[in-house]
Amino acid sequence: MSESFTKGMARNIYYGGSIFFFLIFLALTFHTVKEMPKRDNRENITEAVERGKHLWEKNNCIGCHTLIGEGAYFAPELMNVYDRRGGGNEVAFKAFLNGWMNAQPLNIPGRRQMPNFHLNDQEIDDLAEFLIWTSKLDANNWPPNIEG
Ligand code: HEC
Repeated sequence: MSESFTKGMARNIYYGGSIFFFLIFLALTFHTVKEMPKRDNRENITEAVERGKHLWEKNNCIGCHTLIGEGAYFAPELMNVYDRRGGGNEVAFKAFLNGWMNAQPLNIPGRRQMPNFHLNDQEIDDLAEFLIWTSKLDANNWPPNIEG
């Protein structure tokens, strides 16, 4: 085996492999750029959604929660919290989120705690807009069930 494996072969594997995987990389990049506009619900990004995203980051919600499966696994997935707690009704969801944020911490023994972020009604409304937008992303039916 060692006699038949030449430097030339090693070089060909190196260059051939690099080109092969670079082409796959290019194809996947092209595919992503082409597919994103169909899936990312960008036409519904309003200023309120932007402000909500900013609050989401500033308060590090992702430090405990997941969004589209990414983040920390301490607290529930929130991509579909609008469907779960609002049932497709924006007014009902906003009322839920406002009540929820203001009720924290629940202090129920044995249950994981969420802190109170002391957000005002406008900020909670913006966060709700962000989570409503998020729920309408096309993520291949992720999460798999309504409870996240
Ligand atoms: C320190 C961890 C932590 C952080 C940070 C955190 N949460 Fe939570 N959150 C939790 C936990 C734990 C629960 C579940 C609590 C329970 O069921 O009693 C929860 C539950 C929720 C729920 C209800 C989910 C459901 O299915 O009913 C919402 C909505 C929510 N969080 C929003 C947020 C938002 C928005 C932020 C950022 C501003 C945030 N959370 C930051 C820990 C956290």
